[in-house]
Amino acid sequence: MTGPSLFDQLSQAADDAHAALPQTQDAAALEAWRVAFLGRRGRLSQLMQQLGSLSVEERRAAGAEANRVKTLLEGVLADAQRALQEQDASKRLASDRLDVTLPGRPVTLGRLHPTTQTVREICAAFTGMGFDVQEGPEVEWEHYNFDVLNIPRDHPARDMWDTLWLDWTDPTAQARRMLLRTHTSPMQGRIMERVKPPIRVIVPGKVFRHEATDARHEWHFYQVEGLAVDTGITFADLKGTLYEFARRIFGPDRRVRFRCDYFPFVEPGVDMSIDCFLCKGKGCRLCGDGWIEIMGAGMVHPNVFKAVGYDPEEVTGFAFGMGPERIAMLKHGIDDIRHFYANDVRFLKQF
Ligand code: FA5
Repeated sequence: MTGPSLFDQLSQAADDAHAALPQTQDAAALEAWRVAFLGRRGRLSQLMQQLGSLSVEERRAAGAEANRVKTLLEGVLADAQRALQEQDASKRLASDRLDVTLPGRPVTLGRLHPTTQTVREICAAFTGMGFDVQEGPEVEWEHYNFDVLNIPRDHPARDMWDTLWLDWTDPTAQARRMLLRTHTSPMQGRIMERVKPPIRVIVPGKVFRHEATDARHEWHFYQVEGLAVDTGITFADLKGTLYEFARRIFGPDRRVRFRCDYFPFVEPGVDMSIDCFLCKGKGCRLCGDGWIEIMGAGMVHPNVFKAVGYDPEEVTGFAFGMGPERIAMLKHGIDDIRHFYANDVRFLKQF
């Protein structure tokens, strides 16, 4: 007894493929179905290999049936793939649905530190008057921090700046010593060595002192240095520039006081104070006598000009150095400088 004809086997394969299809719930099962029936070694290919052994008559009929079954199954496969894709897409839509009525998640924004804000305001006040801004190194040579500024080794004025020395000496160049700069004034020498007058520059930056802290003193703080050098600059230019600065930062109503002061690198030297925000100049725990000193200033000393190769007979200039934290304290009514670097966000987020 002979088995079913190839024609019948092909028709049976089509029926079996149809019957197996409903079980293909996902892409992997559908792919297995495709391999089983339409793959290179699948049921259809194997049946088609038998075509060659048939008579011409039978081959024509079975060949036509083979093509019909193949086209049919390919169509079925394409439909099933499309249905699966649509099913996936609607699943994704359902799970990814956005609820636009939900309240947004708050984004925590960072902000500029009050010192940074104040340094920027100070810089803006001076750039508006024609000054450039430059920065310099925090680790400095004793040469620029002291010697160029008319403060030689063993000069008692060095005690004005309690210095943090680095445990390192340059063995090649006359045993030069290094330190953490105690003020921004070393940039005066660095700048004048590099360029010829006219100079109008301010230098913001961090400074360090080996100092006990209290409500008005930190051991590291910021300074903004100023330097103007040209022919014919007088003390009146210094006062005019600093009055204008105070007006821009504090408004026209705050009072300003200049007093004589001593700094080895200026002659004459002054300090500038603003009336205390707490007691309005009466005198209190914060200020003592009603005034808060914000900067030292003066006319550049001839010895400083000589040290950088300028002729003090030809040029004159003024310099100043101020503490931005002290200025921020005055502007915002902050009664203790130690709040600035205690990293307490309750303080910092008020600015
Ligand atoms: C100086 O450091 C000079 N280099 C300033 C100067 C520059 C004078 C150019 C003349 C010409 P003094 O030590 O006074 O000077 O500091 C200057 C300013 O820095 C002070 O007025 C004050 O505002 C601030 N300051 C000084 N010490 C501290 C401190 N420990 N904590 C916070 N601010 C300070």
